[in-house]
Amino acid sequence: MSLSKKVVLVSGANKGIGAATVRRLLKTDIARIYAAARNPAALPDFGDARVVPLQLDVTDAASVRRAAETAGDVDLLVNNAGTMAWGDWITSTDAMVEADMNTNFYGTLAVIRAFLPAFLGRGSGTIANVVSIVGLAATAPISGYSASKAALQSLTQSLRATLAPKGVSVIGIYPGPVDTDLAAAVPLAKVTPEEAAENIVLGLEKGDTYIFPDPLAKQIGHLFATDGHQLEAAMNIGG
Ligand SMILES: NC(=O)c1ccc[n+]([C@@H]2O[C@H](COP(=O)([O-])OP(=O)(O)OC[C@H]3O[C@@H](n4cnc5c(N)ncnc54)[C@H](OP(=O)(O)O)[C@@H]3O)[C@@H](O)[C@H]2O)c1
Repeated sequence: MSLSKKVVLVSGANKGIGAATVRRLLKTDIARIYAAARNPAALPDFGDARVVPLQLDVTDAASVRRAAETAGDVDLLVNNAGTMAWGDWITSTDAMVEADMNTNFYGTLAVIRAFLPAFLGRGSGTIANVVSIVGLAATAPISGYSASKAALQSLTQSLRATLAPKGVSVIGIYPGPVDTDLAAAVPLAKVTPEEAAENIVLGLEKGDTYIFPDPLAKQIGHLFATDGHQLEAAMNIGG
């Protein structure tokens, strides 16, 4: 897709992949970018007049409604906000699992539902969901998080089929380990948020439906396309 003169919203834009994606998008000639954060005071100074700070807590229905009313002109909605609890199915509590589901699945769904009438009214637009490689095959130490991202992947796929005839594209973004607060405890080599953001924006510009923005993600993407059993094994090396 051409990003030229587009209006973009990135949720969870105050840090990590979200903030890096805003910075990378500002290198294109987008018209405006809503930098959405549950606490806009936490947003960095992006130093660009095209950035419009926006309050958005994806788990707060009133906040989601206000954001959709304010930003009715969004062409590209990047659903990046997310949380991750550590735990397998023995150690994680229901509260931990529910928290990740509420943000990563129900929160993203609520944002999509709120913005959808404007997309359908124009008969155009793109919804890009930041899923994860663990949305394609679970990894045991983050079982609840994996389930929330698998649900988000299911949403991404079925929404794509629903909206394609209506002129609205739905894209999935599948990072591997990225060096952010969320992944601080992940014991794997990580790319920087800037590297992930670079490849996310390049993937958007190329029109990719599946964006794998780092080397490990590309390997997982290959297994996803070719061998589901190997994919499951690769996501659980070491038990
Ligand atoms: N880092 C990785 O290795 C990795 C890999 C695959 C996928 N991802 C996904 O990438 C996305 C961004 O994560 P990150 O790695 O950049 O982590 P991060 O630096 O911790 O950023 C997470 C962002 O989500 C926001 N957020 C959390 N709950 C929210 C809510 N209820 N409403 C609005 N915003 C909320 C956070 O806001 P606060 O600062 O207010 O908490 C923060 O801006 C997530 O969806 C994550 O699952 C990350």
